[in-house]
Amino acid sequence: MQIRFVDDSSAPAARIIAHLVNQDAMPAGLEPVLVEAAKMSRFAGKAGQMFEGFVERGGKVVRVALAGIGAPSAEDRRSAIEKAGAALAAKYQSAGEDELLLDLSGLGLSADEAAAALLGARLRAWRHDVYRTKLTDDKKPSLTSIAVKGAPGGTQAKWEVEAAVAEGVEFTKQLITEPANQLYPESFVARCEAAMEGTGLSLRVLHPDEMRRLGMGALLGVAQGSAREPRLLVMEWQGGKKDERPLALVGKGVTFDTGGISLKPPAGMEDMKWDMGGAGVVAGTMLALAKRGAKANVVGFCGLVENMPDGNAQRPGDVVTSMSGQTIEVINTDAEGRLVLCDVLTYAQREFNPAAIIDLATLTGAMIVALAHEYGGMFSNDEELAAKIDKAGKATGDMVWRFPLGKAYDKMIDSQIADMKNMGARFGGSITAAQFLQRFIEDKRPWAHLDIAGMVWADKPGATWDKGATGYGVRLMDAFVRENLEG
Ligand code: BES
Ligand code: MN
Ligand code: ZN
Repeated sequence: MQIRFVDDSSAPAARIIAHLVNQDAMPAGLEPVLVEAAKMSRFAGKAGQMFEGFVERGGKVVRVALAGIGAPSAEDRRSAIEKAGAALAAKYQSAGEDELLLDLSGLGLSADEAAAALLGARLRAWRHDVYRTKLTDDKKPSLTSIAVKGAPGGTQAKWEVEAAVAEGVEFTKQLITEPANQLYPESFVARCEAAMEGTGLSLRVLHPDEMRRLGMGALLGVAQGSAREPRLLVMEWQGGKKDERPLALVGKGVTFDTGGISLKPPAGMEDMKWDMGGAGVVAGTMLALAKRGAKANVVGFCGLVENMPDGNAQRPGDVVTSMSGQTIEVINTDAEGRLVLCDVLTYAQREFNPAAIIDLATLTGAMIVALAHEYGGMFSNDEELAAKIDKAGKATGDMVWRFPLGKAYDKMIDSQIADMKNMGARFGGSITAAQFLQRFIEDKRPWAHLDIAGMVWADKPGATWDKGATGYGVRLMDAFVRENLEG
């Protein structure tokens, strides 16, 4: 989706003209019939309301779309505006016109708010049609551009920043949407290399030989049942002060999770193509940070493996030695995400000595039982870090809800034969998974674990996404960096 800024004289003669509308304040200059019609449809500019009318202008029929953004004083103003932008994109994406004119005149928006409308529109318009060969013309997306008129001063500069974030979100959505025959550890890396070339990010890729040398027995144990070799992708962004310790972002990148020998049931197993969602968020965030030139030091890590059953796969009961030296009894080969993450966490700490670590993972089904698809679950050993992530969640709409950690939960993963086992009892499954990860955090380093199992994929369209990949997490991490590491 192209966004271009126009003024009265350069505005195109678009056939779709959209206005955002403050509550009880119709835009000036509309035809009386349109105003009357909107009123008859009970359109009052409330957040979420939409109206469409057809009028004749200059001898041509044009559609006029009104999208309500509620009262200027509303607490969720920015989000209402973003959703209105998204709703317009959703409605007119396949309407047969290639451009829509968005008129923001006379609304009293800030540049920030205007950019939010554009971000909403761009994010909502993203689709993945690569594998559709039979889309009929009326279903094909036609809208490729939004011309923006009457934007407040400074909108363009704000938009350039948001456009970088949108690129990151889109990259994440794409990675998450690709099926596992296309996206596996090696091709995940190749896609990142292609997307990140020339951005200033420096990439490092670890292969199995190097992993063996480092002693990553937990990650390698998961990978050993697959014909696809694992990879550890490291993406380094140095936009901050030279000697400032970086933030580490660590993502679970299980490109397909069959469960391994502890095989999952067939129903819904196809969902496990997005078990690399955490890694997808990390890659998209790194791309966004680089594209907008973030003034911060951030290193992203993607632990990439495929979890398959095989003659060579690891078995329940196997004991593996992690890079940290700690041993793990693999009770269930389907609790593989933590086995991948633990070695990546150790590597990240030993190699980069980060000031803080945030990991993102589609780690447990129990998280979806607890929170459905409304919040990501947050676990942290640090009040301040947790508060900052929570704040970034509220600002972006990528919401998190904090869960407890503690000794009693930690005890639940003690093993008879090794230092720990990779699953607890039936209850508290998301918490015991987090406790497992915490055993790999060194020196009480500030750490947060985000279990995003319920957030990566949606069965119905949402605010800024269609059915499918949501892009959840990229804006959360971007806002966290912006608010806390820059300026
Ligand atoms: N990738 C799954 C978690 C998951 C399930 C994410 C459904 C999204 C939707 C993870 O690897 C897993 O299988 N976890 C097990 C852990 C259990 C064996 C301790 C689970 O949640 O059942
Ligand atoms: Mn699993
Ligand atoms: Zn998994």
